[in-house]
This record gives sequence, C-alpha cells and structure tokens, in this order.
Amino acid sequence: MTDIVPFDEGAISRAVDVLRCGGLVAIPTETVYGLAADAANGEAVAGIFAAKGRPSFNPLIAHVSCIAMAERHVDFDPVSRALAERFWPGPLTLVLPVKDVQATGRPVHPLVTAGLATLAVRMPEGRVRDVIKTLDSPVAAPSANTSGRISPTSAEAVAADLGGKIDLILDAGPCGVGVESTIVKIEGDTAHLLRPGGLAAEEIEKFLGQRLIRADHAAAIQAPGMMASHYAPDAAVRLNVSAVLPGEALLAFGPNRVSGAEHAKAVLNLSESGSLREAASNLFDFMRRLDQSGASAIAVEPIPVEGLGEAINDRLKRAAAPR
Ligand code: TXA
Ligand code: MG
Repeated sequence: MTDIVPFDEGAISRAVDVLRCGGLVAIPTETVYGLAADAANGEAVAGIFAAKGRPSFNPLIAHVSCIAMAERHVDFDPVSRALAERFWPGPLTLVLPVKDVQATGRPVHPLVTAGLATLAVRMPEGRVRDVIKTLDSPVAAPSANTSGRISPTSAEAVAADLGGKIDLILDAGPCGVGVESTIVKIEGDTAHLLRPGGLAAEEIEKFLGQRLIRADHAAAIQAPGMMASHYAPDAAVRLNVSAVLPGEALLAFGPNRVSGAEHAKAVLNLSESGSLREAASNLFDFMRRLDQSGASAIAVEPIPVEGLGEAINDRLKRAAAPR
C-alpha cells in the first residue's frame, strides 16, 4: 500500500520513521520527485533499484541537509567547496571522492555508488531537508519513476508510476524547477559538466570564471545514468520540427506556431512567452500529458540551447533516441 500525504510539519516524523525502518519514500525536491531510502541501509537502497527496475550499475545521488553532513562521507576540494557554499541548497550535484574512512558509524552503502570511488552529493531545497536532518544521515534518491521513463514533477505522477511499490509519497505540489540537478565534477584544474540540469551551466561558469567541459562520450560513461535512451514516453518523439504531421501532438515553445499546428491531436505550450525557466518546469508534465493523448508521435518545436535550454534539449534528445 502506498500512502500519499500532504508534506506538512507532521509528515516529517512519519517519513523519517519509514526511512529508519528501511522503507521507500517519494520526496518532493525543487527539481523532480525523488525516491528516497536511507543511504546507509543496503537493503533499503536495493529496494530503490527493484522498485524502479534500474540497472544496478547506475549510481545514486546522496542528499544531505548541510555541508557538514556531506563532509562525513566525501572529501571536498576547494573549488567544489566554493560551489557548494554558493549554490546549495539548489539544483547542483557534486561528484566527490568518498572518504577512505567515513566519519560516521553509518557509511553510505556501496550500492549507492555502484562501487565507484566517488559519491554524487547534493543538498536539495525545501522541507525535505528537515527529513534528512532528522534522520541525521543522507538519503539516496534517484528520480521517482520507472527506469527509463519520464521523471515525475508531481505526487500524482509518482503515484501513477510507482503506486503500490513504495511506502509513502509526500505531496508538496508541483516541483518548481522541473528538470533534474546539474552534475559537476572537479578534477584538478578542470570542471566537468556531467549532466546539464536545473542550474544553468552559464551561472556556474560565471562563478568559476572558467568554461565547463561538456560531457563527451567518456564523461557520459562517468555518469552512467546518462544513457542515450531515457525519459521515454510511449509515443515517438520528433525534435526541432518545422511542421506537424497527421496524428502527431505538438509540444510548442514561444509565441509562434509551426505549420500544421491547428491539426495536431493536442497542443501544449511549454512557455507562451518563451521563458526557459517556465519551460523546464512544464517539460515532464507536458510530455506525460501529450503521451496520454494517443498521438502517434510528439512533435517538438525548436527550443534555444542556452541557459536551462541546454538541460531541456538534453532530456528531449534522450526521449527521442532509438529505444
Ligand atoms: O535533481 C536530481 O538530481 C534528482 C532529484 C531526486 O535529486 N535526482 C536524480 O537522480 O536525477 P538520478 O538517479 O535520476 O540521476 C543521477 C545521475 C545519474 O546520471 C548517475 O549516473 C549520476 O547521477 N551519478 C551518480 N553517482 C555518480 C558518480 N559517482 N559519478 C558520476 N555520476 C554519478
Ligand atoms: Mg532519473
């Protein structure tokens, strides 16, 4: 049985109880809903992989309530530390070396890192931090969706996908950012962008005063979750269209429509005004809704590859990749 409860003050201790007992809790973060387990409990973490049908070689992000909690488990270089201080809490994940000896009796279980010597860490925004703080230990949480499917940005989307397979869903309404966190790894003088996400790469570059090295093939393997086909709806996905074909639904962007839009099975506009922020927050919900329209394919209008557009185009490319 999966309970859905409003994420009020009282839900904090309930969620912590479930986590302490090795259960799975869907948690709202500013990016997407996550499927959380106590990161120190191997059986609980294994439950995440089982519920998602996720390949076990794909490591998870450990969510912390403060930098000090992260420091029990990983070593910060000065640049990563500055990034954490500037952008946490927020949609930024840092990949850092796991401490030889973790400064706690509850080390992160190796299933979380899939055996890597590094751990992906992030401090999410919002009430979920109180859950982690009360647990006094990081929670491992991938997006709360079946592996390879669209990430959920509402409690309803989590329930539709994973209902019956998890213990509790905390409902805090729609996520503000709407795409997953940006993943960065500092290596010596180089800053790698392992995954574009909810914090625009340009903002990080401005702060660091240096370019982020975009994930090439090698880096894609460093973030093993960056599989080509991901976020896949049932319908086919066609990108950068200049016209809508018969039977297609249209995912629009901005004030102007491509030709054939009036014949589309359904039309949803990510942002009438052309705001990439608004588009990111609508992306997964609108893909899900267009998928349910029964269209043969989802045609997507061109979306600029700047700011959050980088993450939006990344997710759309994966949704359109051969399955
Ligand atoms: O916004 C987010 O990041 C959401 C919310 C729930 O926090 N979480 C999320 O998790 O997107 P997930 O599991 O869907 O994506 C985690 C990504 C994967 O691409 C994984 O391969 C990568 O992080 N990753 C995890 N540990 C890593 C590591 N040690 N080195 C490199 N990449 C890692
Ligand atoms: Mg995911």
